[in-house]
Amino acid sequence: MNTFDLSPLRPRLPSPLEPVEDERFARRGLTLLLKRDDLIHPDLPGNKWRKLALNLREADGRPVLTFGGAYSNHLRATAAAGRLLGFPTIGVVRGDELAGRPLNPSLARCAADGMRLEFVDRATYRAKSDPATLAALLERAPAETYVVPEGGSNALAVHGCVELGRELAGAADVVAVACGTGGTLAGLAAGLSPGQRALGIPVLKGGFLGTEIRALQEAAFGGARGDWALDERFHCGGYARTGPALEAFARDFEARHGLAIERLYVAKMLHGLVTLAEEGAFPAGTRLAAVVTGAPEPPPEGS
Ligand SMILES: Cc1ncc(COP(=O)(O)O)c(C=O)c1O
Repeated sequence: MNTFDLSPLRPRLPSPLEPVEDERFARRGLTLLLKRDDLIHPDLPGNKWRKLALNLREADGRPVLTFGGAYSNHLRATAAAGRLLGFPTIGVVRGDELAGRPLNPSLARCAADGMRLEFVDRATYRAKSDPATLAALLERAPAETYVVPEGGSNALAVHGCVELGRELAGAADVVAVACGTGGTLAGLAAGLSPGQRALGIPVLKGGFLGTEIRALQEAAFGGARGDWALDERFHCGGYARTGPALEAFARDFEARHGLAIERLYVAKMLHGLVTLAEEGAFPAGTRLAAVVTGAPEPPPEGS
């Protein structure tokens, strides 16, 4: 491991752990803590910091190429890191129909941060981990470009998320986290102590995530780690699907607890946790921690 210096970013670590009063938990003898990873860094909040930090050290100032959709938080975080630490970034964006159109606010921020955007058709995007496709993309990139996979989830990212589990040592019995690729859960579970368990709430429909988490742990640690489980009931129909019930839940949570809730991941996880508490899924006395893995997007400038 090299020593590329991330300290200019001044991350707020360990992230704060805040108790909240919520009668939906209290009436069942449960306590709820919010693990405020959203406060780690304004441009690399939550699991973006945890997953990118070791990758950026490994890249050691070389150009970084990564992948995302037109609204990818991961692309934006990578572009911001490049601007703040002074390394070039290349974003491979799904959808060649976007090329030549005005950039949406998310991609405009990436471009303003100096990221070179490469729009590719959906078939190429799906094949991005095939060696030949990746080699073709890298041919257009500077020599020695470092590749971070979509969503930032690789073995180094999983190792970066171990620290999240360690920060919760002794503080909670069950730790809930929203899952996309499962990289955050894979590392979190490995960092928890014996007797603590992680509960993943997938935001995508499909039922494939358990296998992917096992593969990520295999790649990172050479085998299974920690006590974790998934509850697949709270994706609201799939990625980026929300709906009025989830919106009402999130607004109510914001009003009760005075923090802004990111809708695509964090709201689904909190909704799952409240539902499970109301179903009596946790014995009285259980200390629950909910990881706030991201912050809502600020509205585009000028709006
Ligand atoms: C706010 C937020 N929470 C949770 C996740 C899920 O993380 P992972 O892909 O590691 O499961 C993401 C995706 O990166 C995210 O943006």
